[in-house]
Amino acid sequence: MSDPLRLVDRDRVHSWHPYTQMLTERPPLPVVKASGVYLYTEDGRRILDGISSWWVNLHGHAHPKLNAALAAQARELEHVVFAGCTHPPAVDLAERLVEILPPGLTRVFYSDNGSTAVEVALKMAWQYWQNTGHAERQSFITLDRAYHGDTVGAMSVSAESSFTDPFKPLMFAVTRTHEPYCYRCPVGLTRSTCRIECLNKLESLLQERGPTVAAVLVEPMLQGAGGMIVWPSEFLAGVRRLCDAYGTLMIADEVFTGFGRTGRMFACEHASVTPDIICLSKGVTAGYLPLGVSVATEAVYEAFLSEDRRKTFFHGHSYSANPLACAVGLASLDLFREEDVLARIGRLERQLREGLEPLRALPIVGDVRVIGGVGVLELVSDSATKASGGYLDAIGPRLAAACLERNLLIRPLGNIMYFMPPYVITDDEAAWALDTIAAVLRTI
Ligand SMILES: Cc1ncc(COP(=O)(O)O)c(C=O)c1O
Repeated sequence: MSDPLRLVDRDRVHSWHPYTQMLTERPPLPVVKASGVYLYTEDGRRILDGISSWWVNLHGHAHPKLNAALAAQARELEHVVFAGCTHPPAVDLAERLVEILPPGLTRVFYSDNGSTAVEVALKMAWQYWQNTGHAERQSFITLDRAYHGDTVGAMSVSAESSFTDPFKPLMFAVTRTHEPYCYRCPVGLTRSTCRIECLNKLESLLQERGPTVAAVLVEPMLQGAGGMIVWPSEFLAGVRRLCDAYGTLMIADEVFTGFGRTGRMFACEHASVTPDIICLSKGVTAGYLPLGVSVATEAVYEAFLSEDRRKTFFHGHSYSANPLACAVGLASLDLFREEDVLARIGRLERQLREGLEPLRALPIVGDVRVIGGVGVLELVSDSATKASGGYLDAIGPRLAAACLERNLLIRPLGNIMYFMPPYVITDDEAAWALDTIAAVLRTI
């Protein structure tokens, strides 16, 4: 017998939602079905998913080919321990990823979400230096406004923010350097005339303490939760050059940017860079199932090969390399090939640019940034001083509510409003969403 209470009423009794002030936030959307770019609610609404369900969905919801791959895999093998066992989807996916990743990334280590992909990379880098006789390399350099996840290690390497404030005493110390945030240049320059001077701080840090640095960790080309900051590719190339010059490892966190989000399969391709370790998650399963992947070079891997068992990488998760997740990941890579998804993202990028650039004229819009399938508006309360309330700016929830009334789901990061639909969005659907955003901004 169906429960007479609505889903949201039942939800309120036992659920505790992520990033949600349960006392004051509006009730959650009761989503009972999804297809393509649309979510369908219990009360009969059809809502366009403008954030690809927290940046994970690529080919639309309930894609028939992904559904079929998942069902077929469930009939064969739903899960098996990955320590001491292996299975076809894990091996196939590792082979396919190595084929498409920046050259030189060859050793695939599975975990089960974005934060664990980062934790694995940090631990790998740390132990790499111990195993190779350089235990003095114990520190990490990360960027201002970085976001790498919510587990304690991932929080430590993220920027200090209202997300991490309550946990400060739990976190390990890291060294932070400038991010290439051209709209709010950390060294006070202008992009059209600068020579990427924001890299100089990284260089002086490496000069000062290079021999103690285990790795430099970055979100290449697009820093996500820290403000949807789009980089000049020269900065990315510079990070690789400096890591090489000072002999430290480079970790690229492509949990968000991987699988086409920036218009290339991997953001590192924008500067033809191969990091020593890359972190993947989110889009790796096209938004179907949790999976984390940290891929290292052969040199990193070889440092763990030893008769001495203490050099083993002692890390694993119950659901490492889950076969269902790997099978959907493989089917998603097939779709990239069969449907020329990257060309579709290129079209979406042009449409985002054309739709959002004119909004620069609004006093509330400080900056417009577009890369691949992500369109960003940085909102300000004063365009001359660029003042804003940051992540806790009330404009975010107000905009989200106004868009939702018009059946568009967005989730601004405070004053950073972004639109990032699944790649299958049609030109008409994208035009509708962009018109909706423009209309809301004109009335807010
Ligand atoms: C760059 C980056 N790294 C790591 C993570 C953490 O991923 P997860 O939420 O799956 O733990 C995120 C999540 O948004 C991310 O954007």
